[in-house]
Amino acid sequence: MILFQDQIIEREEVLIDLEDRGYQFGDGIYEVIRIYDGKPFTLREHLNRLERSADEIQLPLPFTLDEIAQHIITLIQRNSLHNGQVYLQITRGAALRNHSFPNEVNPVLTAYTKEIDRPFEKQLTGIKAILTEDIRWLRCDIKSLNLLGNVLGKQKAVDSGVDEAIFHRGELVTEGSSTNVFIIKNGVLQTHPPTNLILSGITRNVVLKLASELGIEVKEEAFTIHDLKEAEEVFVTSTTQEVMPIIEVNSTAIQKGTPGEITKKIQAAFSAEITLSK
Ligand code: PDD
Repeated sequence: MILFQDQIIEREEVLIDLEDRGYQFGDGIYEVIRIYDGKPFTLREHLNRLERSADEIQLPLPFTLDEIAQHIITLIQRNSLHNGQVYLQITRGAALRNHSFPNEVNPVLTAYTKEIDRPFEKQLTGIKAILTEDIRWLRCDIKSLNLLGNVLGKQKAVDSGVDEAIFHRGELVTEGSSTNVFIIKNGVLQTHPPTNLILSGITRNVVLKLASELGIEVKEEAFTIHDLKEAEEVFVTSTTQEVMPIIEVNSTAIQKGTPGEITKKIQAAFSAEITLSK
């Protein structure tokens, strides 16, 4: 079943106009929310970010955040989803094709669910990544449907036989194609600050909180490609990947090529946080 505006309907019944601005311009925003044991994880944080993205592109939300939350919960129940994700997007709706906003905006909200198992093998073994220049626009803080730069980055990773592309602007590392990047250097956990150059990940923010609680020093400061390659540990975070160790960057092993001890501690704390939230 699909959430279409405020109705739960069959997928076959969803009608999206050919001139929907999401389809033609990528003019819209989205969120991916994780569901554990039938309950959305950090739902409020995701909805707050959705509202911020909407404000930043001057898109009026068709419903209140509380209404959207209620519709998401109904969708989860109707699909009997236990462990998985909800993908939700809102576009600026249908209008004759014209770059500027239409006079009358009728936003289109859709959401669907997908099952995911946890934990998955790669969280234990870690994944490999490549570095690639960050060619995206300068508002990566908006969770926009325009993902072509991210898509091309991820495809480059897949073509290189690895799982993630880590973006850099010149010497400075920004984030992954669909993740935030962390390094551990001299025992300090470091990640890019939440500027216009990265998406302020919900998982990122949970990890920063957990690390502080564990007594790990944290630093929100951009680091270089050199720092990344020389790091004691590297991991990436996202709603779907959670805390994912990176064991190789551009064919160079990070430390011994196995997930590091601090990464494992943070993974354990993240699992405990999920259990607490249920
Ligand atoms: N990706 N950076 C980028 C570019 C992302 O696309 C994502 C999430 C993140 C991590 O954000 P969060 O922790 O809030 O999921 C960082 C989602 C999962 C996706 O597009 O599928």
